[in-house]
Amino acid sequence: MRRVVCPGSFDPVTNGHLDIIGRAARLYDEVVVAVLINISKQTLFTTDERMEMLREVTKGYQNVTVTRFHGLIVDFCRANDISVIVKGLRAVSDFEYEQMMSQMNYRLAGIETLFMTTNPLYAFLRSSLVKEVAGYGGDVGGLVPEPVLTRLQERLSSRRREQQAGQPEPG
Ligand code: PNS
Repeated sequence: MRRVVCPGSFDPVTNGHLDIIGRAARLYDEVVVAVLINISKQTLFTTDERMEMLREVTKGYQNVTVTRFHGLIVDFCRANDISVIVKGLRAVSDFEYEQMMSQMNYRLAGIETLFMTTNPLYAFLRSSLVKEVAGYGGDVGGLVPEPVLTRLQERLSSRRREQQAGQPEPG
């Protein structure tokens, strides 16, 4: 049984992530999507919300499960009998940092990292950019799965309402 992990923040999951998860699901027996519990980073969606969205958009894959983790990814791998981390590589700019992480993870626990080049359709895509563009009213349709688009728009408009309510009256 070959079980691999696709780790990330997934705040929120994009079509780029989904492409990598789907391709990993065709290569391996089981893919565990592990959502990082970010304690030091402010996220738009809670860990539970990020997991819920991932479960919804991966429900068509019988061999994909979604969970959360904190601490080192290698400790998560060891605890879950996982020997391979699967990551997407968008561009050369991703490579340097990803290479350091993969070498560190190998050094720490002998965990291998398998890199898949991102589908060129999504090579420019990252969650932070999606949030920024959508936050200013830009169209991110086709870049995130449909259920994520709806939740993103809802969350951003409630954030806008909160901000407006907190602002002093003009004049
Ligand atoms: O989606 P992201 O935020 O780019 O994912 C980064 C992630 C979660 C894969 C990476 O930060 C990670 O593995 N964090 C867990 C902590 C850890 O193991 N750090 C040392 C890596 S060498």
